[in-house]
Amino acid sequence: MRTSTIFAIVASLGVAIADDVYLGFNSGATTDSKNAKKQADFEKEFETAQKLRDSPGLFNAIRLYTNIQAETTDTPIEAFPAAVKTNTKLLLGLWCSGTTSIKNELSALSKGIDQYGTNFTNLVIGISVGSEDMYRVSESGIRNNAGLGQAAEAIANFVKEVRDNIKDTPLSKIPVGHVDTWTAWVNESNKAVVDEVDFVGANLFPYYEDDKGNDFSNATAVFGDAFNKTKNAVGDKPVWITETGWPITGPDFGKAKASLDNAKGYWETIGCTLFGRTNTFWYTLHDSNPDNKAKFAITKDLSTTPQFNLTCPANAGAPPSINTSPSNSENGNNGKSAASTTSSSLMSWLVAGLSFVCAVAAWAA
Ligand SMILES: *[C@@H]1O[C@H](CO)[C@@H](O)[C@H](O)[C@H]1NC(C)=O
Ligand SMILES: *[C@@H]1O[C@H](CO)[C@@H](O)[C@H](O)[C@H]1NC(C)=O
Ligand SMILES: *[C@@H]1O[C@H](CO)[C@@H](O)[C@H](O)[C@H]1NC(C)=O
Ligand SMILES: *[C@@H]1O[C@H](CO)[C@@H](O)[C@H](O)[C@H]1NC(C)=O
Ligand SMILES: *[C@@H]1O[C@H](CO)[C@@H](O)[C@H](O)[C@H]1NC(C)=O
Repeated sequence: MRTSTIFAIVASLGVAIADDVYLGFNSGATTDSKNAKKQADFEKEFETAQKLRDSPGLFNAIRLYTNIQAETTDTPIEAFPAAVKTNTKLLLGLWCSGTTSIKNELSALSKGIDQYGTNFTNLVIGISVGSEDMYRVSESGIRNNAGLGQAAEAIANFVKEVRDNIKDTPLSKIPVGHVDTWTAWVNESNKAVVDEVDFVGANLFPYYEDDKGNDFSNATAVFGDAFNKTKNAVGDKPVWITETGWPITGPDFGKAKASLDNAKGYWETIGCTLFGRTNTFWYTLHDSNPDNKAKFAITKDLSTTPQFNLTCPANAGAPPSINTSPSNSENGNNGKSAASTTSSSLMSWLVAGLSFVCAVAAWAA
């Protein structure tokens, strides 16, 4: 093997490593007491996310469910200026259930682009057209009274409509996808959506899998099995984990029990193997669904001291999150540790890459 080839491989490894893998949380448009979130509420939330004590990485991405400010028709959601102010990356969402039109969602987005310009669009990492719409019209969604949903064909058409709408904007190159439960992604009736999207957003909660042996002790198996089935069902489409987590309080669900220990254990055994490897939006920093008796928030009242220690175990098997954003130290009190883990993990990956290349070179020679 020629030296140039070796360097090319090392360089390509380097590029793959330096690419951002997003670490984030989900954020609803209203609070847990059903009030519309204002810019200041979003700012507080996004700042807390970036300043969490003992965080294994910089949580500077947020997934939204809608572009529309709560209690308005098509005013851009105030999460946009809050993201600009806190340098938070955005996985945008368009609410697509129980409607025949996404015009208001598109209008809010277009106004947001006009109002905040590239300060806003530079932060957008993806657009999800819909959220769990196909789950709601599935057998289990109907059984759980999940509410109005949307059929696959309608979602696929909305995805096309979004692409058409952003093609002459600074968002034209941003991946357009859809978020749904893993069960919706493995359902062959929904293939039209798999074919249409750039990425697959999978919501995956072993806690809710009451027909899969969902005692906490089996959470890793339930998660692994569902994640594998999802990846197998969607071919080469990248799978982002758009919601996962374990509740701290709430009712038993099958054999699953909500508790602080289980939430911490789930973070360590599932979260820590995803962070830095797969785009992950944890559920969640701050609860915002009063109808859900299970409470997932890892902080109380947006304190930067979480309810449990977020440190990842040394044997979690995942590289620490790598974030190359130059603004780390400006925005997070963990800027220092983020910078040092970046260089050390980059080094260990490069060393691993080099030894692999050397082994291949030796074998080829
Ligand atoms: C974008 O940010 C810059 C720097 O903060 C500011 O001067 C400018 O007015 C912003 N542009 C818009 C459209 O908000
Ligand atoms: C698969 O999707 C179809 C169409 O939405 C739905 O009717 C069916 O219930 C789904 N199957 C399962 C097992 O959820
Ligand atoms: C654990 O989960 C796997 C995957 O869902 C399932 O096949 C298995 O039966 C579960 N084990 C127990 C003991 O419930
Ligand atoms: C998922 O797939 C990976 C790779 O194919 C395999 O190593 C792992 O055991 C699988 N996990 C489960 C729970 O099936
Ligand atoms: C969290 O755990 C880590 C590793 O054990 C430890 O260094 C750190 O001090 C702990 N943080 C708190 C607030 O106890």
